[in-house]
Amino acid sequence: MTFDRTVKIAPSILSADFANFGAEIRAIEAQGADWVHVDVMDGHFVPNLTFGPPAVKAFRPHVKTFMDVHLMISPVDPYIEAYADAGADMITAHVEAGPHVHRTMQAIKATGKMAGVALNPGTPAEAVAPLLDLVDMVLVMTVNPGFGGQSFIESGVEKTRQIREMIGNRPVHIQIDGGVTPQTAPLVVEAGADVLVAGSAVFRGGSVDRPDVYGTNMAAIREAVG
Ligand code: DX5
Ligand code: ZN
Repeated sequence: MTFDRTVKIAPSILSADFANFGAEIRAIEAQGADWVHVDVMDGHFVPNLTFGPPAVKAFRPHVKTFMDVHLMISPVDPYIEAYADAGADMITAHVEAGPHVHRTMQAIKATGKMAGVALNPGTPAEAVAPLLDLVDMVLVMTVNPGFGGQSFIESGVEKTRQIREMIGNRPVHIQIDGGVTPQTAPLVVEAGADVLVAGSAVFRGGSVDRPDVYGTNMAAIREAVG
């Protein structure tokens, strides 16, 4: 994938119909999703449980764009290969998930996949500074991870600005995850973000029988960021 900073929308299938993932993925892509964001939760690092590697592997053939796998699990290192084999294009792990985030990023890169590093709202921007030559993306969480539909935490805007400055001209994406809406998206794009994860703001009001609503919801976010 060639690097660019154009704004990309990555719907989180955490807000999809859990009985119908294949059709939901096809619907959001047909309506213009740039990436597909898969939220992996372990009931330990975050208070919720979602997708193991076999589920992610089952999503893979439906994803024609780019499968962005957000691991909210701890420990994370023992599972990297399994998610790589399941077909992730990008694997993102949290700074807070263990004592050796640099090793975790090396392990992701060793699989040949792209590597992302995520920060919780309570973690300062500086935590990713030593990793910027190693990673392909920094994920700034703008909610405390675990659930969709929470409200945007404003301090993520300034943190995004700091990280954008730290990245300089390295080819590193900045992704925002949590509470992204047509109201909050312009704040983070102006601060330097280029990948917007959105769960409820994309899926709200739509279904596989009304996929046009997904398209309208994504268009509202794109229009808001100009
Ligand atoms: C939160 C997840 C998010 C979540 C976003 O733990 O990482 O990807 O699905 O959902 P919204 O867009 O509804 O805040
Ligand atoms: Zn996520």
